[in-house]
Amino acid sequence: MSKIRTKNNQDLQRERRYRRHSCWDHLIAAPLWPLHGVNLGTLLRTCEATGACLAVPKFPWVPEAIERSYTYREPGCVHWTGDQLTWLSKQAQDPNTDVVAVELAEGATRLADLQPAKRRTVMVLGHEQTGIPDEALEFIENCVEIPMIGTGFSLNVAVAGSMVLYKLAGLL
Ligand SMILES: C[S@@+](CC[C@H](N)C(=O)[O-])C[C@H]1O[C@@H](n2cnc3c(N)ncnc32)[C@H](O)[C@@H]1O
Repeated sequence: MSKIRTKNNQDLQRERRYRRHSCWDHLIAAPLWPLHGVNLGTLLRTCEATGACLAVPKFPWVPEAIERSYTYREPGCVHWTGDQLTWLSKQAQDPNTDVVAVELAEGATRLADLQPAKRRTVMVLGHEQTGIPDEALEFIENCVEIPMIGTGFSLNVAVAGSMVLYKLAGLL
């Protein structure tokens, strides 16, 4: 007989928070140029799992896309940013906030070297086809890159964001 016993829902429930987080504004995932709704739902699941919030512009299709692709019973924590550059510049000017971009960039920190967030941290993700626009780069203090050795140029944005979020949350 196997020595491994998989956890059932009651086991899992005991390990979890018993209610949703109270928006403590510690970690914020910011896919500011979203294209595919399903990636927002996936990211929001990771936010819920790591105690983070999601900050996204309220394009007309976004609320319904999140509702369709986010599958937990408890609602996730979503903030609407309004104009992306205005919001981002406000975050960059906040002396208590670190702004970290997840992007393939020269001089970026490798994921393995990224330390858990020590204070309020905004994690910026790029457009699914064109990455982080040039005009947003001036607001970015640090970049994190997830090394890749395969033939593809980049990862799916929700996959990349989830990996970095786990690292920033100190859960990996
Ligand atoms: C599909 S990629 C966009 C790639 C786009 N072709 C470009 O030229 O930048 C979408 C976003 O996922 C994130 N991403 C994907 N792969 C990544 C990696 N290996 N390291 C860091 N970020 C990554 C970045 O935020 C990127 O802007």
